[in-house]
Amino acid sequence: MKKENALWWQKGIIYQIYPRSFMDSSGNGVGDLAGVRQRLDYIESLGVEAIWFSPINPSPMKDFGYDVSDYVDVHELYGGMPAFQALLDDAHRRGLKVVIDLVPNHSSDQHAWFQESRSSRDNPKRDWYIWRDPAPDGGPPNNWLSFFGGPAWTFDAHTGQYYLHQFVPEQPELNYRNPAVRQAMLDVMDFWMKLGVDGFRVDVIWLMMKDPDLRDNPLNPEWDGVNPHSKFIHQYTANLPEVHDLIQDMRGVLDRYPERMMVGEIYLPNQELMKYYGNDDECHLPFNFQLIHYPWNAQAYRRAVDQYEADLPAGAWPNWVLGNHDQHRFATRLGVENARTAQMMLLTLRGTPTCYYGDELGMTDGHIPPEFVQDPPAVKQPEIAHIVGRDPERTPMQWNAGPNAGFSPAGVQTWLPVNDNHATVNVEDESKDPKSFLNFFKALAHLRRSEDALCVGSYQSVDAGDDDIFAYLRRAEDGTTFLVVLNFSSRIITLDLGEIARTAEIAVSTDMVSSGTVKLGALIMAEHQGLLLRL
Ligand code: NOJ
Repeated sequence: MKKENALWWQKGIIYQIYPRSFMDSSGNGVGDLAGVRQRLDYIESLGVEAIWFSPINPSPMKDFGYDVSDYVDVHELYGGMPAFQALLDDAHRRGLKVVIDLVPNHSSDQHAWFQESRSSRDNPKRDWYIWRDPAPDGGPPNNWLSFFGGPAWTFDAHTGQYYLHQFVPEQPELNYRNPAVRQAMLDVMDFWMKLGVDGFRVDVIWLMMKDPDLRDNPLNPEWDGVNPHSKFIHQYTANLPEVHDLIQDMRGVLDRYPERMMVGEIYLPNQELMKYYGNDDECHLPFNFQLIHYPWNAQAYRRAVDQYEADLPAGAWPNWVLGNHDQHRFATRLGVENARTAQMMLLTLRGTPTCYYGDELGMTDGHIPPEFVQDPPAVKQPEIAHIVGRDPERTPMQWNAGPNAGFSPAGVQTWLPVNDNHATVNVEDESKDPKSFLNFFKALAHLRRSEDALCVGSYQSVDAGDDDIFAYLRRAEDGTTFLVVLNFSSRIITLDLGEIARTAEIAVSTDMVSSGTVKLGALIMAEHQGLLLRL
């Protein structure tokens, strides 16, 4: 393929913005859309193709926007619909695409649909949510658990039944076995398509159907005893075969419009994940999260990438993720010394990379003092908050070394504390430093954009002769080839890659210093170094 023939979501980088944390233009300590708009020059300068916004809909914020109380409006806190429209227009004028989060599995308990549903057992919307009688002992109808701790059922004394929620109790789950619910959500999608958004990231798409008989989930024999939610295999609450039919209906809405895209949030092994491509009639991109779960090991990464490439159905487009608002930042998980190598990998593998705001600076997890902890799974389960809590990766974007990192005006209490390392890890200072993480990111992103080989070319891993090295070739149709060599270790390693070519030119090095021609027969890789070489 040539990049002229590729679709925008195939060739470009998706940049994820967590709206509460990107830029606070109103001075209330929480980010907003006018703030994002002020920073469009910056976003454009990164060389990304699209922005994905975590939910912007009206929400009581029990799960910081993933509890939607109106699917066809924008939260006043973020500036409402006028602010979104202005941002969308501005972004489009600059050639940036805009993807929004769609959270169809559950609404807020404050949504008018749920208010009606809970009002009486014979309300016409009763069946829009999943209600069941108590078990004979008065307890929940079955053993299903919430991802955030405790049972997935809450008793509603007013009508004497339990309703289902796999996250906080204020996120009741919609019943997609009811055709009216299905149609209502398809209409929501159509509303945003008509407004001109370029796509959806669909929240927990693989959970949208549940067993109609509410069978108990079986015990997980491999449970490590840490997170109670993993005590069961989610056989009857996740990845039900019927979900594919629903997703095809959702895709049908997008296909009525040109070049729209749907990326689904799905945590599943390859064999199951691949089914979410359908016959090119389901997700354009089922999120591929697997690298998030591997320890930093070159051979494990190589095997994972090779296997994923081999498992992809014909014509399906790959994608890669190292970070998002639910995962500890990769610079923390993998170690800051490995962060550049990891970033180089993410931006040079074949397929669409998703980059989480601030990762382009090398941002790390913030320290959250106990009085600031607000993420529901951490609040509910303090004993495992360090594992399940997501506040650390949601701290404010670091724009400069000044008060509040330039995110909010000085003196304002930001909703989560600003990371102390904003003194050095910030946009302003990194922009001036030719060797910074930010300029490294930009060098990779811009080269990726201009080179068919990196943007849409083929992938082939290479036996580099050392277990700490992951190396691969990216080749364009016209033969232009890049070799990526990543040193996962703190050893200096000399490689003999002379069979590939005699010499190569350094296009980008993680140190942002090395340049010129190297001899592949005796290629010296410094500790934690990554090299992007033009053959
Ligand atoms: C997945 C989202 O990414 C996460 O942030 C949220 O808490 C749950 N879905 C519930 O919507």
